[in-house]
Amino acid sequence: MNYRHAFHAGNHADVLKHAVLLFCLDALKRKSAPFAVLDTHAGRGFYDLLGDEALRSPEWQGGVARVWDWPEAPALIQRYVEAVQRFNEDGALRTYPGSPVLVTQALRPDDVLMACELHAEDHDKLRRALPRVGNVQVHHRDGWQALTALLPSPQKRGLVLIDPPYEAPDELETAARAFGAALKRFGHGMYLWWRPLKSESALAAADAEARAQGARQLLRADLWVDTVRLEGRLNGSSVLLINPPFGLRQTLEAALPALAARLSQGAHGWRVQE
Ligand SMILES: C[S@@+](CC[C@H](N)C(=O)[O-])C[C@H]1O[C@@H](n2cnc3c(N)ncnc32)[C@H](O)[C@@H]1O
Repeated sequence: MNYRHAFHAGNHADVLKHAVLLFCLDALKRKSAPFAVLDTHAGRGFYDLLGDEALRSPEWQGGVARVWDWPEAPALIQRYVEAVQRFNEDGALRTYPGSPVLVTQALRPDDVLMACELHAEDHDKLRRALPRVGNVQVHHRDGWQALTALLPSPQKRGLVLIDPPYEAPDELETAARAFGAALKRFGHGMYLWWRPLKSESALAAADAEARAQGARQLLRADLWVDTVRLEGRLNGSSVLLINPPFGLRQTLEAALPALAARLSQGAHGWRVQE
């Protein structure tokens, strides 16, 4: 387990993932019934954008920094920037909130977060980052096992965020196959699965596998900021939603053209498909 999200926090891929995550959370909150969020690969919670890792790899400057001061940002991105601003109240961008922090910020008293992080140091940081309240659970456990061990949640509705590091060469396949067991337990849940955009054929195979495992209503959004390539710097990312919230497709179609241009480092683009 060498991957450390601190080198990547706030990059273009986090902008897409976290903006969509917030849209999903807002959609869940349109109903009064409580929901649960399972974050299978949660990370450490907070990231210091002026800390050692971020200074060595300032990817956030091509991500969150580019949308931070964007008066005419599309609604999806305005909402995201507002969420990040809450952790940078003096107006200077320094602290980046990871997925479990964004979820915790959105929870109502009866909603629940189950956050899993396997790396001991990051788990410890996450435990200290999140509030010690009954509806926020931090697990030092394998996120893939959590898909069966922690689902279904007693809340019966909610969201599963799957955001692995893709260190193992077969992690796309592992994730796609994991939907079989997860969907049997929590078939009507919303799923948000983040993937690196490197090989279209690998992603197409992963999507096909997710379908074969029982995923039905799918929405995929891709965003790239430069020419997509197999090796080297990550230039694009893809989110696949199962049981996406109402209105997400239109919101993405309204936001991604301007977002891709704003984050561009070269041959940028976007795609939304079902
Ligand atoms: C991409 S990062 C997560 C970022 C986080 N979801 C966010 O958006 O802020 C992936 C994390 O998964 C952790 N990890 C790796 N393998 C894991 C596993 N099998 N189960 C749970 N966590 C794992 C890594 O230590 C790393 O912190």
